[in-house]
Parts: sequence; C-alpha cells; structure tokens
Amino acid sequence: MVEKIVIIGPASQGLAFRVAELLKATPIATESKVFPDGETYIRIDIEDETILRGKDVIIVQTTGPNAAGNQNQRLMELLMIISAVKRIGPKTLRVVAPYLAYSRQDKAFLKGECIFAEEVCKMIQSAGATEFYAIELHNPDILKVFSIPAYNLDPMEGLSRELKAMHIPDPVVVSPDKGALQRSQDFARYLGDKVPVAVFSKERDKKTGEITMEGDLKLMNKDVIIVDDIIATGGTMAKAIEICKKSGANSIYAIGIHSLLLKNAFFILKKAGTTKIIGTDTIETAAFQISMADVIVNAIKANEKVK
Ligand code: R5P
Repeated sequence: MVEKIVIIGPASQGLAFRVAELLKATPIATESKVFPDGETYIRIDIEDETILRGKDVIIVQTTGPNAAGNQNQRLMELLMIISAVKRIGPKTLRVVAPYLAYSRQDKAFLKGECIFAEEVCKMIQSAGATEFYAIELHNPDILKVFSIPAYNLDPMEGLSRELKAMHIPDPVVVSPDKGALQRSQDFARYLGDKVPVAVFSKERDKKTGEITMEGDLKLMNKDVIIVDDIIATGGTMAKAIEICKKSGANSIYAIGIHSLLLKNAFFILKKAGTTKIIGTDTIETAAFQISMADVIVNAIKANEKVK
C-alpha cells in the first residue's frame, strides 16, 4: 500500500492533525508568512522532496477567515501548497478545503457580478488536485465545474451524535430561512424520531445586506436548536435567536457548521441569549467545536474502496 502523507495547512492545524491520526498517515507541517509587499509565502516543511514523490498526499487547509488570516490569504496558501506538491510528483493529491472561500458568491445576484465560487473550484483543479472534498457547501451545484471527483460531505450525522449526548430535553429544530430547511430537516431526522422542524422566512437586501426575518412559532418552554451552514457576522443567527426568545423558548443552541464568528459575532450571539454556540473544526474559532475529522476520513476510505 502507498504511504499516506497529510499536509497540515496553517488554517487547519487541529483538524488536519486529527485526520492524519485517524488515517495513520505521516503529518507534515508548513511554514508560512506574508512578505512586506503583501505577497503570501508558504513551503512544505521538508528537507527531502522524495518524502512526497509517488505518495498519496492529502492537503487539509480550510479557506475561511479566522483570527490568523483572511480567506484570500488562506486560499492563496492552499493553491501554493497544491502547486508545490504537484511539482514534486505525488501518486494522488487529495485536497480537503472544509470551508470553501467565496462559496456564497455562487450566483450573479446583480448585473455585472461574477460567479467566483466556480472560479475558486477551477483554480484548485488547475493547480493540481486529483480529488476534492468540502463540507456542507453553501451551494453544492458549484462542484459541477470540476472534472476531477469532487465531494460535498454531510456533517449532520456527526453533529447530531454530539447533540444527542447533551440530552436536550424537548428539542425543536429551527431553520433560519427556507434555504436552510433541507439541512435542518436532515439534522432533525438524525437527532431522533419526530423531532419537529420550524422555519422562519428571511429576506436580505441585496444591496445593503440588511436582514429581515419573520416567524410565528410555538416555542413556549421548548429547547431550540437553530441550524445554519455559516455564522459569519452573526446577524442571521441573532435575529433568529431574538424571535425564538420572544416565542418563549427555554434554551437556544446556535449551530453554525462553519462558525466564522467575524468581528464580535460571538459576543452578539451571547448577548442575544444563546445557551451555546456550536461550530465544527472546519473553522477553528471560539465556538464549541465538533470535529469533522471522521467525516473526512470515512469519505476518503470509502472512495479508496471503490477504486
Ligand atoms: C445565508 O444564506 C447563509 O446560509 C447564512 O445564513 C449567512 O451566510 C450567515 O451570515 P451572517 O452571520 O453574516 O448573517
């Protein structure tokens, strides 16, 4: 069997290490910096390139913003790592970008816009990826632009396992908008038989970004779990929490699969009255973290079996 190597991207140090452990692969670090002119620099921390030649190489690097960098820098680092590995000549080059930068720019909403989510996919492929994995993409349809195998992994089973262990007494799953309904229904199904799902209607002004949300839900004394793919500024989640509180909810768990928690989002959600903010390690931030390492490793192993 060909040796597996996991390259630990600087934005996914915890998750990448967990993936390496579960795969019994050799972890290799990277060294990165930003030059005075703003250009990104990264190298794989090896003295002998034959360590990677002919091997099954897996790069784990998220491309979302966190305290240590913005998404442009993260994306550039990822492309540069892929390019370095490709130059050396691996047998396979799997790229795991658990959160995909620009994934919300998946349509031309206004005249004159580009669909940059698709361009990001094209860049990852042309840099040298032979397989691509993301988790809970905002719009999985963008994967159609890849001609290599590309997967949108489902985090819901793993998430619900952790939530079940919290023994939340009387749960209702709330979807903050119609777009998140399918995701919320999947989550509720994993959580247990007959866990109800309620939905708010949300509008976002395409120019100002301002959110309006409505919903008349029967949540008196219920334990509410709000599930969204992304918590960015926290605006959507805070509005949903506010309505749940007004509807008499007992406790409120805010789940953002990708909890970017920009600026003071954590504070805003705490102030709004959330009991617990739950994220995953697709983005390593202050939210309570549920690891997606097993979701990634199971998918890689399943694809290996098929070959
Ligand atoms: C929107 O369609 C997404 O599913 C999220 O609701 C949104 O990206 C969250 O952004 P923010 O936290 O800034 O409201």
